[in-house]
Amino acid sequence: MDESRPPQNLVVVGVQWGDEGKGKVVDALAERFDIVARYQGGANAGHTVVVDGRKFVLQLIPTGILRPDKTAVLGNGVVIDPVALLEELDAVEKAGVPVGDRLLISDRAHLILPYHRSHEAAAEQARGVDKLGTTAKGIGPSYEDKAGRRGLRTCDLLRADEFRRKCCEALAEKNRLASALFDGPLVDSGEMVERYLETATRIVPHLADVSAYLNTQMDRGKRVLFEGAQGTLLDLDHGTYPFVTSSSAAAGGACTGTGVGPTRIGGVVGVSKAYATRVGSGPFPTEASGPESEKLRERGGEYGAVTGRPRRCGWFDVPAARYSARLNHLSALVITKLDILDHLAEIPVGVEYEFAGRRFSDFPSEIAVLECARARYQALPGWQESTFGLRDYSQLPKEARDYLRFLSDQVGVKIAMVSTGPERDQTIWFDESVVRGQ
Ligand code: IMP
Repeated sequence: MDESRPPQNLVVVGVQWGDEGKGKVVDALAERFDIVARYQGGANAGHTVVVDGRKFVLQLIPTGILRPDKTAVLGNGVVIDPVALLEELDAVEKAGVPVGDRLLISDRAHLILPYHRSHEAAAEQARGVDKLGTTAKGIGPSYEDKAGRRGLRTCDLLRADEFRRKCCEALAEKNRLASALFDGPLVDSGEMVERYLETATRIVPHLADVSAYLNTQMDRGKRVLFEGAQGTLLDLDHGTYPFVTSSSAAAGGACTGTGVGPTRIGGVVGVSKAYATRVGSGPFPTEASGPESEKLRERGGEYGAVTGRPRRCGWFDVPAARYSARLNHLSALVITKLDILDHLAEIPVGVEYEFAGRRFSDFPSEIAVLECARARYQALPGWQESTFGLRDYSQLPKEARDYLRFLSDQVGVKIAMVSTGPERDQTIWFDESVVRGQ
C-alpha cells in the first residue's frame, strides 16, 4: 500500500433533485481514485461529462470509464436493462473509449425488462394529472419487483433454461395485470426472452461479486469513489415522497448498493448547483416563474440529459440543502454552475419557508405543506461579470466569494470545489483535504 496516499473512499451525492452536475464532479475527482462505483438507479440518470471539448452523456455506466486507468463498477443496488446497457457500451467504445474488462457488473443487480417499461407507461397514464413525471425507463417497476421478491437478476442470465422459466412466469403475471388494470399492450414472451438471452454472451463476462471485489481492492489500498445518481431530495425514503425515484440516492445507499460496510467510507461530498432545478412533478418551494426562470434555463442549458424535458428552475434552497447535509453527513460541498448567475444584479436565496402563518426552516415530510409553503428569500448582491472557466479563487469577484461563503455558512458545510464550466479543469479548488483523504 502506498502510505503517501491514504485510502479514503468517498461518496459523491446530489444535494438537490438531481442534475447538479455530478458527472463532471465525479470525472474531476476520479483522477485521485482507482475505482468508480454506481450504487443505485439505472439509465434514468444522465451524467454529462465534457473531455477536451467532446461531450459524453453516460446513463448507466459509471463516469470513471472515461479515464483509461480506472475500473467502473455497477453495484447490486443498480437496476439494469441489458439491451440498453449494451447500446451504451457500444456508443462509449465507438467514441474511442475502450472498455474491455474495466467494467464490472454485480451478479446481484436486478434487471429491467420490457414489461417494466410498459407497466410504468400504463401506470403513469392511469394517474392522469397526478402523474409522477418519471423518466419512463422502467426504474420504479423493476425496484417494485425487487422488493416484491419476484425480480430477475443479472446472475439469472447465467442459465438460459432458468432465465426462460423465470421470465415467462413473470411475464404471464405482468400480462394478466396489464390487461386487468390498464388495458395495456401485452408483451410477447418468446421474442422478449430470446432477445434478452442474446445479451448474456456479452454481459456475463462482466459479472462479478462486486462486494468481494471492492472489499479486496480496498484491503490492497485502492480508493473507491461511489457515484450517486439523482439526488437526496429524490431518495425513496428521504425525498419528496411520492415524487421521488425508487432507489436510495442518498449516501447511505452506497453501502447497501455495493456491499461495502459504512466504516469503510471516509467522507461524503455533496454536489449542488449555485441555484436549483427540478425535472418531473413534485414540490419545489424556491421555483422561479416567468422570465427569471426562463433566463436560468436558457443560460444553464436546463433540459433533461435523458428525456430532453425542460427543467423547472429556481433559487438555492437553504432548508433543503441543510436537510441533505444532515442526511448525508456531508464532509464538503461542491457548488456547480456558478457562472450561470453572472448576469444577475441580485440573487435571491431561499432561507426559510412560510406556511399557514408560521415560519420554519426544517424540511417538511408532508407534500401538502411543501407544495403550499412559500419560500422567504434573502437577496445577495450579484457580480455581473463573467466567472466562466475561472480556475483560481483569487480571480472570483468579491460578490461571488461572498455568495459562496453565505451558502456555506447557511448550510453549515465547507466548500471544497466550485465548478465554473463543463470542462474537467474549469474548476476552482477551495479545499482539497477531503479528496486527499485526510
Ligand atoms: P424515475 O426515476 O424514472 O422513476 O423518475 C422519478 C422522478 O425522478 C421523476 O420526477 C424524474 O424526473 C426524476 N429523476 C429520475 N432520474 C433523474 C435524474 O437523473 N435527474 C433528475 N431527475 C431525475
